[in-house]
Amino acid sequence: MNKRFLLKNGEVIHHDRIGREDVLVSGERIEKVAAGIELDEGIQVIECAGRLIFPGIIDSHTHMGVPIKGGYSADNFETGSRAALHGGVTTIIDFTVLNENQTLMESFNERLSRAEKSLVDYGIHCNVTRLSPDLLKEIPALVDMGVISFKVFTTYRSAGMMLSYPQIEQVAREVARSDGVLMVHAEDDAVLQQAAEPFLASRSTLVSDHARTRPAAAEVEAINRVGNILQKTNCRGYVVHLTSAAGLTAAANFPDLALETCPQYLFFDEAVFDCDDGRMFVASPPIKRRDDRAALWQAINDGTIHTIGTDHCPFNLADKASDIPFQEIPNGMGGVETLFPVLLARFLAEGKDLCQLVRLLSTHPAEIFGLAPRKGSLDIGSDADIVIVNPKRVSKGWDRELASITDWNGYSGLPALFPEHVFRRGEWIVQDGHLRAASPGRFVPGHT
Ligand code: URP
Ligand code: ZN
Ligand code: ZN
Repeated sequence: MNKRFLLKNGEVIHHDRIGREDVLVSGERIEKVAAGIELDEGIQVIECAGRLIFPGIIDSHTHMGVPIKGGYSADNFETGSRAALHGGVTTIIDFTVLNENQTLMESFNERLSRAEKSLVDYGIHCNVTRLSPDLLKEIPALVDMGVISFKVFTTYRSAGMMLSYPQIEQVAREVARSDGVLMVHAEDDAVLQQAAEPFLASRSTLVSDHARTRPAAAEVEAINRVGNILQKTNCRGYVVHLTSAAGLTAAANFPDLALETCPQYLFFDEAVFDCDDGRMFVASPPIKRRDDRAALWQAINDGTIHTIGTDHCPFNLADKASDIPFQEIPNGMGGVETLFPVLLARFLAEGKDLCQLVRLLSTHPAEIFGLAPRKGSLDIGSDADIVIVNPKRVSKGWDRELASITDWNGYSGLPALFPEHVFRRGEWIVQDGHLRAASPGRFVPGHT
């Protein structure tokens, strides 16, 4: 297990610089990163000339095998993490599901035991989808166990997941006391209800009606309301799956708020709803307009958005049958396997800063969720989670080579650069683009 090997002559992409460096791995950790490392004979050398070397990607927003609208998202930890590795993701952070009568700790333990099948390392966010004094009291113990981020929902009332704003304030106070992070699904339920009013009796199967009933105004209202709560309680906040230009403007009033968007909001706009498979793009919040997409890219470029997580929650074609009224289509899309490949292809095609890509996909998620310095960088002592890409190996027909078990992928047809090699804690799991057997992933506790 304590194997040493050297990645030689690669172009190493850090969060703040790019350099021709060698990376020496010893066992599960990075021993040294420097130009021209010379070693005794007998140590395995992997020639990386012409290759880009990235820290392992962290997808800090996945939902493996979760109940949604009567069914389950199509990936479990085993299948989803295989797909993740194929796309360069070496760590995920997944969300608990708080079942009836469960304590938060029980929901955490249940997720932890499901995650044992994961091949990538994993952290856990705690969903707080109902509230009582006893549940609130559990927060410090969870933070001690390494669960430092708590997600609240300003909607999903009918699914029994919504908290009122006063309840969110109670959670924020308790999370702040433990120096945790409050994550918010920002769609104000009152705004959504008003928009949905004309559709209450509708059996419309038009996918665009899903978007009509969930406007950007809901994002704005929720960000304003929760932003004020966070300031009042002095709690760290993180908006998940931000979708709109108006949402960005609202968030600008709260400079301490960390912002996440997802690939589906960057690569698509509402035009997808008119495609034959438009229903497959149904997610909440919905994909918005062209100008929203442009505003999100601008915020990626200028650093206003801190992370890109996938909200990985895939469904198969049959799960989203075309005769289902739009309100009943299970919401969610897959993305963990394509996150890095499609973003890297776009960054390279447009000459964007690759350090920025590292910040979005590795550095910031590791810092915000307390996984640094173990995760998120190629620094000495960090876990040897490493992704190597040949930028000349543009993947053609890549959608036929996916590891995912699902039968639909929204990103098919887009340029993508899949990793040539992926190491997770020093273990060579993707070799020449092919997945090999892997030892199990491990829980990585977050630290405040
Ligand atoms: O449609 C989505 N996003 N499904 C996953 C659940 C959530 O709200 O993140
Ligand atoms: Zn959400
Ligand atoms: Zn989500």
